[in-house]
Amino acid sequence: MADERIERIKNAAEFIKARLDGRKPEIGIVLGSGLGKLGDYIEDATVIPYKQIPGFPVSTATGHKGNLIIGNLGGKTIVAMQGRFHYYEGYPMELVTLPIRVMSSIGVKVLLVSNAAGGLNQSYKVGDLMIIKDHINTIPNPLIGPNMNDFGPRFPDMTRPYDFELIEKVENIARRLGHELQKGVYFATTGPTYETPAEVRFYRMAGGDAVGMSTVPEVIVARHCGIRVFGMSVITNSSNDSTKSDFVNDGEDVVKQADIAATKMIAIFTELIKEI
Ligand code: HPA
Repeated sequence: MADERIERIKNAAEFIKARLDGRKPEIGIVLGSGLGKLGDYIEDATVIPYKQIPGFPVSTATGHKGNLIIGNLGGKTIVAMQGRFHYYEGYPMELVTLPIRVMSSIGVKVLLVSNAAGGLNQSYKVGDLMIIKDHINTIPNPLIGPNMNDFGPRFPDMTRPYDFELIEKVENIARRLGHELQKGVYFATTGPTYETPAEVRFYRMAGGDAVGMSTVPEVIVARHCGIRVFGMSVITNSSNDSTKSDFVNDGEDVVKQADIAATKMIAIFTELIKEI
């Protein structure tokens, strides 16, 4: 019996391949909330709205545009997702992660993922960038279901989800550019609610440094199909651990803070791409 999931991946990949004009992107980028402006720096860009791509959902989240962009950045051909799909939008995990398998099918070997996140770590400040060194996942695992053997193994190793060599390159780049970076563990929740104070204390105790509602599904699927991953969080707000404070977590402010920090992240991604 034909696997509908594979058909969906193949159809989308064929559609995109027909628009590559001989280009072969080996680097993929996922742009999180408020970080879509990296798209403006891509040269010779072909912009494909998700709604034109067969089988692609349309992203509905605030601060997410909904385009696949193929072009040049840091002297290399890249493919970027300007906006991603989240589990909280109601999409099944297969669709949340469809673009990653499509990227793999068109030849992507390295994935740079970004997101806006809350700072659980009390030494983090709004506007900080955090290298994701590991994650804790509480979103349903996107690999649940019959294994797609053509993409990867049933039980993928997750000892090193984030590539050590890419992390080291970014640490050197940041030093050169004079940007201080945090390095920590990303705690993924389904959302769409922000955390309660008790949850903030719990996630912190569990070892989380930043909390967000995305990224890990894409990372798991990328690792399943052998793509090397680098991840970065923009700390857009602190996480409140007290019911007594007058703190309010605000989606609009998250997008605004991400937009401010995006310039630093764009510079780092561009330098990293040059070195890949
Ligand atoms: N919690 C969860 N997701 C987020 C946050 C947060 O505080 N900030 C940005 N994305």
